[in-house]
Amino acid sequence: MIELKNICKSFDDAMVIKDLSLVIEKENFVSIVGKSGSGKTTLLNMIGTLDFPDSGIISVDNINISKFSQREIAEYRNRKIGFVFQSFFLEPSFDVFHNVAVPLYISGEKDIQKRVEEVLKLVGMNDYIKKKVSKLSGGEQQRVCIARAIVNNPEIILADEPCGNLDSTNSAIIIDLLKTLAENGKKVVLVTHDMDDARKSERIVTLGDGMIMSDELL
Ligand SMILES: Nc1ncnc2c1ncn2[C@@H]1O[C@H](COP(=O)(O)OP(=O)(O)O)[C@@H](O)[C@H]1O
Ligand SMILES: [Mg+2]
Repeated sequence: MIELKNICKSFDDAMVIKDLSLVIEKENFVSIVGKSGSGKTTLLNMIGTLDFPDSGIISVDNINISKFSQREIAEYRNRKIGFVFQSFFLEPSFDVFHNVAVPLYISGEKDIQKRVEEVLKLVGMNDYIKKKVSKLSGGEQQRVCIARAIVNNPEIILADEPCGNLDSTNSAIIIDLLKTLAENGKKVVLVTHDMDDARKSERIVTLGDGMIMSDELL
């Protein structure tokens, strides 16, 4: 369960998240939509401990993540959360294997080869395991990102405009992958401005000016 209680967040003098409360419990695939600048990325980053609220409480499975020490933050990001970003953040000079393996080196996994192969199969990229990431298409790179996001078997996947740089065919592949992960028990929070993608989730939360404008179960 992800619970945000009375979250406020400002940058400089501008309040970008305004007393926002949100509980994600039953639904495994939730979309967050809203205009550019409405606070979607800020919200997702706070759930992922990439950023922190000025006030309010964020708890995940009843643990207050705002109180985490640096060590707990690192552990939480590595094991509990998988991040998927619009601009991939892969290491282009590494091959697919080494990009996907990074979280496993951090967590101390023993059989890295086996685990990397497992997740690459899940995203349909096992044949590319030795390819340099810079040689892959955008859609292929985003599938590698999803493999990297799930390699430590996190409970939560946070995807910030994962299809923002992709054509419609590749976008559909990525959304379907996220949907499959949700069906298999992961909690997926998808930030998107594409309503067709959002409609493939179970719930659409619309942000406007740092507040929840609507919250719709599908
Ligand atoms: N690091 C930052 N420093 C200053 N302002 C920021 C920062 N991050 C976001 N903002 C501002 O906060 C508002 C919300 O941004 P963001 O969460 O990125 O919105 P969205 O993802 O919905 O487009 C915007 O006005 C943006 O300019
Ligand atoms: Mg954003």
